[in-house]
Amino acid sequence: MKAALEWQIACGADESILDAPIDRTSLPKSEEQPRQAPVQESDPDIVAVARNAAAAAIDLATLRAAMEAYEHCDLKRGAKQLVFSDGNASARVMIIGEAPGRDEDIEGRPFVGRAGKLLDLMFSHIGLSRTASGGENALYIANVLPWRPPQNRDPKPEEMNMMLPFLERHVEFVDPDLIVAMGNHACLALLGQRGITRLRGQWKKALGKPTLPMFHPAYLLRTPEAKRETWADLLSLKERLGA
Ligand code: URA
Repeated sequence: MKAALEWQIACGADESILDAPIDRTSLPKSEEQPRQAPVQESDPDIVAVARNAAAAAIDLATLRAAMEAYEHCDLKRGAKQLVFSDGNASARVMIIGEAPGRDEDIEGRPFVGRAGKLLDLMFSHIGLSRTASGGENALYIANVLPWRPPQNRDPKPEEMNMMLPFLERHVEFVDPDLIVAMGNHACLALLGQRGITRLRGQWKKALGKPTLPMFHPAYLLRTPEAKRETWADLLSLKERLGA
């Protein structure tokens, strides 16, 4: 088995493609054919487990530990590690993205790949940075999902539902003045709405905080002409911070 695995790695296979690993040594003979992992239903008990675990956390460190210990999201088994957050927890602005990608999965921090570099550049133009030490100029960054979906596929509704109690508690602990919902999936999780082209730039309320939907930087990399609207959104954020 080890030799077979090493051969796959030598061939360049470096990612899982199913949501969860299959232990083929324990499959009955009739099931040895390749198959997709069973579809994960949205189970209210699983959400309740997440809600209780999140409620028991007393700070960011215990919340992180509670997420590490949560076993009901299959993404955990395909990801290299939990991607919890980055930046300054006393920031006035909390950015909430979708889910880690390949680079984030490797590094264990959100938005460190190409999209993350653009995100840093965008916010630097209004004087905000994840490395700033004072809360005034600082950013705090987290994602709806803390584990990378295989092959960067879209998050499933049941995955977002089960991880939402952790995100809600995360926002409670950071207690930012403003939230940026980065892209469609963050809008769906936080506002229950999709359609980022229509939503972007309109201030909403999510988890009791003024929330600004913005285009995801990965979208801006593919659609540079949308940077004009993003600049308007950044200015709106800066103005709101000043107010
Ligand atoms: N895209 C996201 O939404 N989050 C990340 O952390 C990286 C890319």
